Amino acid sequence: MHQKIIILDFGSQYTQLIARKIRELNVFCEIYPFNHDLKIDESVKGVVLSGSPFSVLQENAPFPTYDWQNSEVPVLGICYGAQLMANNTGGKVTPSNHREYGRANLDQVSTKSPIFKDVITGTQVWMSHGDTITELSGEFNIISSTSSIPVAAFEHKTKRIFGFQFHPEVYHSTDGKTILKNFVLDVCECKGDWTAASFIDETVARLKAQLGADKVVLGLSGGVDSTVAAVLLQKAIDKNLYCIFVNNGLLRKNEFEEVMERYSSLGLNVKGVDASDRFLDLLNGKTDPEEKRKIIGKTFIDVFDQEAHLIENVKWLGQGTIYPDVIESVSVNGPSVTIKSHHNVGGLPEKMNMKVVEPLRMLFKDEVRKIGVQLGIDDKFLQRHPFPGPGLAIRILGDITKEKVRILQEADYIFIEGLKNNGLYDKVWQAGAIFLPVNSVGVMGDERTYENAICLRAVTSTDGMTADWAHLPYEFLADTSNRIINQVKGINRVVFDISSKPPSTIEWE
Ligand code: XMP
Repeated sequence: MHQKIIILDFGSQYTQLIARKIRELNVFCEIYPFNHDLKIDESVKGVVLSGSPFSVLQENAPFPTYDWQNSEVPVLGICYGAQLMANNTGGKVTPSNHREYGRANLDQVSTKSPIFKDVITGTQVWMSHGDTITELSGEFNIISSTSSIPVAAFEHKTKRIFGFQFHPEVYHSTDGKTILKNFVLDVCECKGDWTAASFIDETVARLKAQLGADKVVLGLSGGVDSTVAAVLLQKAIDKNLYCIFVNNGLLRKNEFEEVMERYSSLGLNVKGVDASDRFLDLLNGKTDPEEKRKIIGKTFIDVFDQEAHLIENVKWLGQGTIYPDVIESVSVNGPSVTIKSHHNVGGLPEKMNMKVVEPLRMLFKDEVRKIGVQLGIDDKFLQRHPFPGPGLAIRILGDITKEKVRILQEADYIFIEGLKNNGLYDKVWQAGAIFLPVNSVGVMGDERTYENAICLRAVTSTDGMTADWAHLPYEFLADTSNRIINQVKGINRVVFDISSKPPSTIEWE
C-alpha cells in the first residue's frame, strides 16, 4: 500500500489543486469531505485541512470530525484550515476590512521551521481570504508575517501542526512547491515513490487479481481516458478485453475511420459499430439541448448494451472514470444547479447489470496523460482536444439534419487542420466550429447568397471549468474564414467567438 496524504475538503476551489501538487511530488493524495470519519492507518502520513468559501465566524461554518489537535500524523491547515486551527484553540479570527486577494510577500520567514527550509524572506505568495488571524494561543509560534497581516504562517510549539494563511498550491506562490515538499517529504516523511511506472505495475497486478479469466467490455470514445483505461486493461487481461467504438453520426470528419485505425495499431480488440442513422433518426426535429443530450445518451446505452450482449459471458463493464468524477463534492452552497448534464451515459452500469471496473478512478486528467505517455500511447490520442459525448449535436444549434452535420464537419475540419498546420493546436485547450442556423445575405461572384453562418470557438483553459477565448492570430482567422466560405457549400459567413467562461460556456448548447 502506498503512503498517502489525506485532504479534508471544506469546499475550496483549490482543493483539487493541492492534491495534484502533492501528487507531483510522487506522493499519493486523496480528498474526502471535511466531516469524513478519518481513520489513520499506516498508509496515512499526513492530513491537510483545505480552504473554504465559509468564514469560521459564520454560524453554520463546517468543522471537521477529525481530532486534528491530537493527530498521530502531521497536520497542515491552509487558509480556512489555518483559521479554524487558530479559532478552535483560543486564538482570534476577525473579518478583514477588505478581502485580501492576490500577491503578497512574506516579509518575515522563520527559516528555523522545517516547513520553510530553502524558502527566502520576501518570497511571493498568493492570498485569498476575507478573515484574518489576529491572535494565536500560546501553543503556537508565528513563523511568518506580511506587511498587512501579522500571522501569515504558524507552527505548534511541540506538535507537528502548521497553518498557512496563503495558498502554497497556487502557481503564483513562488516557493509553494518547496513548502509543500517540506511538509510532505520532510515533516510527514513520505518516500515519494508513487510514480507513473509504479501506478501501472500496481494497477495491472490489481486488475489481474480482480478479473482473473473474466471478460470485460469497454466503450471507447477516441479520447484520452477510455484509451488509457483500455491499454491498462489489455495489459492485465489481453484478449479478454472487448472494446466497442460507436459511431453516432456526430463525430468529426473522418474521425470514426481514423480512430479505428489508431486503435488497431495499439493492438486493441475493437469492434466499430456504425449507428449513425439510428441516432440521427431519433434526433430528427429535436431542438432542446438537454433533450438532444438525453436522446444521445440513451441511444448510446441501447446500442452499447445490444453489442455487449453479443459477447458471450461478459461479466464486467470497464469505464474510464477519473478522480474528479469520484470525489464527493462538498456542497457548501446547497445542491448546485445543473447547467448542462455532462454525464451522458450515467445510467450505463445500471442498465447492463454488470460489475464495474474503473482503472483510472484515482487519477486526475494530467496524470492519465502521464500514464498514457509511460504506456507508449501515441500523442494523437493523448494531446487530442476534449470532445463532448454528444459530439456535433450540441454544436449545431437547434434541430439536426444530415446536411447540417456534413457542413459542420467540413468547416470544423478546415479549422482544426489549420490549427495543426500552423502550430496552434497544442496552444489551445479546445477548439471547434459551431453551426449557426441563421441566414444572412452574401455575394459570391455576381450572385446573391442567403446562407448559414459558422462560428469558430477556441479556448484556453486548464480544466474546462473556466476558460478564456484563445487570441488566435488575425492572419490565421482570415485564412480560415476564406477557406470555409470558399470550400463549404451552404456557408457564406464566419464569425469568431470572443466570450470567456464564465459567463459564457465553452459549448454553445
Ligand atoms: P461547457 O460548455 O459546460 O463545457 O463550458 C465544458 C467542457 O465540457 C464539455 N461538455 C461535454 N462533455 N458531454 C460531454 O462529454 C456533454 O454533454 C458536454 N457538454 C459540454 C465541453 O466540450 C467542454 O470541454
